[in-house]
Amino acid sequence: MKPLSRRAALTLGGLGVAGTVVGGAGLLWSRQPETSVGPGDASEPLSGYTGGEPLRQPTELRSSDGLLEAQLAAAPGPAEIGGRTVTVFAYNEGLPGPTLRLRPGDRVRLRLQNGLADPTNLHVHGLHVSPEGNSDNPFVMIAPGAAFDYDYRLPADHPPGLFWYHPHHHGLVADQIFGGLYGAIVIDDPEPVPVARERVLVISDLTPSGAFGRAPVGQAERMRGREGRLVLVNGQLEPSLGIRPGERERWRIVNACVSRYLRLSLDGQRLQLLGLDSGRFETPRDVQEVLLAPGNRADLLVTAATQPGGPAGSTTTSRLRALPYDRGGMGMGMGGMMGGSSPSTATVDLATVTVSGEPVAAASVVPRRPAPRDLRGAAVTARRELTFAMGMGMGGGGGGGGGMSFTINGESFDPDRVDTTVQTGSVEEWLLTNSSPMDHPVHLHVWPMQLIEFDGRPARAAEWQDVVNVPAGGTVRVRIAFDDFPGRTVYHCHILDHEDLGMMGVIEARGGPAPAAG
Ligand code: C2O
Ligand code: CU
Ligand code: CU
Repeated sequence: MKPLSRRAALTLGGLGVAGTVVGGAGLLWSRQPETSVGPGDASEPLSGYTGGEPLRQPTELRSSDGLLEAQLAAAPGPAEIGGRTVTVFAYNEGLPGPTLRLRPGDRVRLRLQNGLADPTNLHVHGLHVSPEGNSDNPFVMIAPGAAFDYDYRLPADHPPGLFWYHPHHHGLVADQIFGGLYGAIVIDDPEPVPVARERVLVISDLTPSGAFGRAPVGQAERMRGREGRLVLVNGQLEPSLGIRPGERERWRIVNACVSRYLRLSLDGQRLQLLGLDSGRFETPRDVQEVLLAPGNRADLLVTAATQPGGPAGSTTTSRLRALPYDRGGMGMGMGGMMGGSSPSTATVDLATVTVSGEPVAAASVVPRRPAPRDLRGAAVTARRELTFAMGMGMGGGGGGGGGMSFTINGESFDPDRVDTTVQTGSVEEWLLTNSSPMDHPVHLHVWPMQLIEFDGRPARAAEWQDVVNVPAGGTVRVRIAFDDFPGRTVYHCHILDHEDLGMMGVIEARGGPAPAAG
């Protein structure tokens, strides 16, 4: 299959996903990608990994009476992946870490215990909480062996949805996430969506090295953005799951990969998107595919076909796949230096869905959500342009780009410099410009972004995301309402190697009277 143009819209309809159901239940690890992992790294196929076990759910930690108190211990340890033992980093010995299940208005007290050999910290990606003190503060540094007590207070009107947590210590983010440090956060809906069951699917990739340890990552691969040679769902290789004909499930999918884009498809079953990130649509949208850049989440309804292609009572199988996606390359002949392969250009089988048993009656209608806030008519108080660039030459900031700098408005990350100052209570419009030959998924902490324009084409609906893909050579215009939470935090490329190499800026929101609209 030809890689999809990176200019394609985020959610794709009507693409050539065949409506056929693949028969048979054979599972082959070898469907996993065998791409080169960069110069100097072993590039032989990964053999000896097997898939097909039933999909597990991560442990769940649930708040009660408005409070969740828990400990997260980050440490290296063994994990069973594809029938082999691999050393990973894990929260509470789980790959992924426990799912935090919360409600708006909750208080969450988390003690993070650092059992790693390096500093770490914790970021609650997508949550609308204060970035200060011991809340979602990306400047906290927890030394090896030390612990830190986080205390998050969700506003009573916090949007429901799917979020996630991961480390955010600059320079080590990609290594620690690639090692296995991530977990989902679910904020329950006020009115439940009627489904037979709900599943969390945390998709990640990693490259094990033999039976022990993780493969080293070369400088060129960091610049491209590392992609693991095994793509896992809840830490499992090609797990399987069963569903009855006509049954509706809710899948909450996190793209926890460091750099890999997931263009997801599931042949033969009905897919309806409830929303992306914390943005929810009023009514579910029928889709053929969902594209998740690193950091994005999908809230997806999956309804199994009632006539799954065979005689009644037969079993059919379809596959959750990541289809090819071309996120660009380094350009200027660097492709040759990188082993020539463009990232994410192979189809990857992620999971097998078996439809069998007695058909069930159609699930009842999904309750309508209130119309999302729409800033398209809002008074804009400031306009800015942020240019994401990769260049030859000495990047500042000590990111060690090896001759290639990763910058925003010409600057590499410096935690002591405030790049953008905003007023609480203001609405800003940002033009995100990508002058490089690779896509950059742009992420802002604390405040979600409303999509206004893609390469000059206006958005058709009010859609909110916290990671917005800015295609190679393209522009995306967004609006942001800085309603509350004064403090300092960051925005960055969510190809976390790029973030570690310096593509991150500091934003400070200052309290005080809202500025006049201009
Ligand atoms: Cu998911 Cu600052 O990141
Ligand atoms: Cu984040
Ligand atoms: Cu990037």
